Amino acid sequence: MKATQTDATKYSVARVRADIPQLGIRVREKNLIYLDNGATTLKPAAVIERVAKYYRDENSNVHRGAHWLAETGTGFYEQARLEVSRFLGAKTSAEIVFTRGTTESINLIAQTLALLGTAKGLSSGDEVLVTELEHHSNIVPWQLACDRVGAKLVAAPITDEGEIDLQALERLTSEKTKVIAFSCCSNVLGTITDVESVVRIAKKCGAIVVVDAAQMITAEKIDVQKWGADFVVFSGHKIFAPFGIGVLWAKGDWLDLLPPYQGGGSMIDSVTFEKTTWAAAPQKFEAGTPNVGGAIGLGRAIQWFEAIGPSDAMLHSKLLAESAREQLSAVAGIEIYGHAKHRSSIVSFNLKGVHASDLGTLLDQQGIAIRAGHHCCQPLMRRLGCSATARASFSVYNQASEVDALVAAVRKAKEILL
Ligand code: ALA
Repeated sequence: MKATQTDATKYSVARVRADIPQLGIRVREKNLIYLDNGATTLKPAAVIERVAKYYRDENSNVHRGAHWLAETGTGFYEQARLEVSRFLGAKTSAEIVFTRGTTESINLIAQTLALLGTAKGLSSGDEVLVTELEHHSNIVPWQLACDRVGAKLVAAPITDEGEIDLQALERLTSEKTKVIAFSCCSNVLGTITDVESVVRIAKKCGAIVVVDAAQMITAEKIDVQKWGADFVVFSGHKIFAPFGIGVLWAKGDWLDLLPPYQGGGSMIDSVTFEKTTWAAAPQKFEAGTPNVGGAIGLGRAIQWFEAIGPSDAMLHSKLLAESAREQLSAVAGIEIYGHAKHRSSIVSFNLKGVHASDLGTLLDQQGIAIRAGHHCCQPLMRRLGCSATARASFSVYNQASEVDALVAAVRKAKEILL
C-alpha cells in the first residue's frame, strides 16, 4: 500500500502531530523528520505538562509521610500503576512492578530466579533458551544469571525470513529448559512473534516464559491474560512516556515467590539487625525512592495513546513502514533485512558498498533521524551477515511525506557516496 493512502484513513495524523511539540523543531535548517522511534518515542505535550505539573505543584515522596502532598503523590503513583495494569489486561495492579525500564525488568527476573534456585528458580544444570533475534538486554542478564548458578544459555535459530524458528525452538527444549525468554517484536527486523505459540511450547516442558515487549508496546495490543506468559516487560519511553520508568508484569504468585532484587527503604515490613521481613509485592521489588514523576508520566502517556485510537494509530505506523519497504526495495543496491509475515513498523536496510553509519550521517544532514549500527544485537548482525544496518522506525505521528523524504534522501546519499 502506498504511504499516501494511509493518510486518507479516518485516522488523523495531523491531529496527532499537533500534540507533539518536538515535531516543530528545525534540524540542520530543515524540519525534523524523526524516524528513530524504535530507540525512543517523542513525547506529547500532555505528558510533558503532566510531569511538569507534578514537579511544579505536587512534588513529594511516596509511601512515606502522612502529609497531604505525600498522600496525594502516593495516590497519583498508584493510579499510574492501575493505568498500566488496565492497559496490559493484568488481573490487579499488584502484578505491576515499576522499574527503570526493560533492561532492569529482565535483570530483576533473571537475578531473582537465580536467587530462588531450587526446582522453581534457576539452578545448576538448567537451560535458558533465548533466540537469535534478541537485543543484548535479553541475552546478557541471562548470561549473568546462568554464570551465577551454573546454568547454560542456549540460542534458538531464526529463519532466513527473520522469524523465530518455532520448530527448532521446540526441538531445543527439554526437561532442562527452565526459561524461554524472547522478544515478541524485534527491534531490528520488526518480526512479530506469536506469544501464545511460544507459551504452548513452553508448557510442554514446564518452562517459564519471559516476553520482552519493548517494541511491541506500540505495535499491537497486549493482553497478558490471553498471552499466558509468566513475565512481560517494557519501557515507558517507547510509549511516549519519560525515560527511567519501566514495567515488569508477573503472572499469579510469581512476585510472592521471588526474593527481593534490591534492599532498602519501602520494600520492608520490619527491620532488625537480626532479621528483616519484606513488604508484599509489588513494593518488595521497589526499594528506595521510586521514579514517581516517571510513573505519573507513563500513566498520562497511556491515556494519551488510548485517546488517539491505538488500533488505527498502530495500523497507520505499520502501513508507513510497509510503504517505506516497498519504495526502498525499488532503489538499486538497497537490501532490506527481515521478511517475516507478521511485522511491526520497523524497516532495516543497507545500501550495498556503504556503511550504515555513513548513510545515517547523510540522512541526518537532510534532517532525517534514523538509527544506524548494530542496534544492541550483535549476534543477530552476525546471523544477517553484516556488522550494522540503517533502521527507520515509524510511529503514530509520522506521515506519508516523511516516507517519501526518506526514500529521496537515500537516493541522494547513494549519488553522493557511490
Ligand atoms: N533498544 C533500543 C533500540 O532498538 C534502544 O534502538
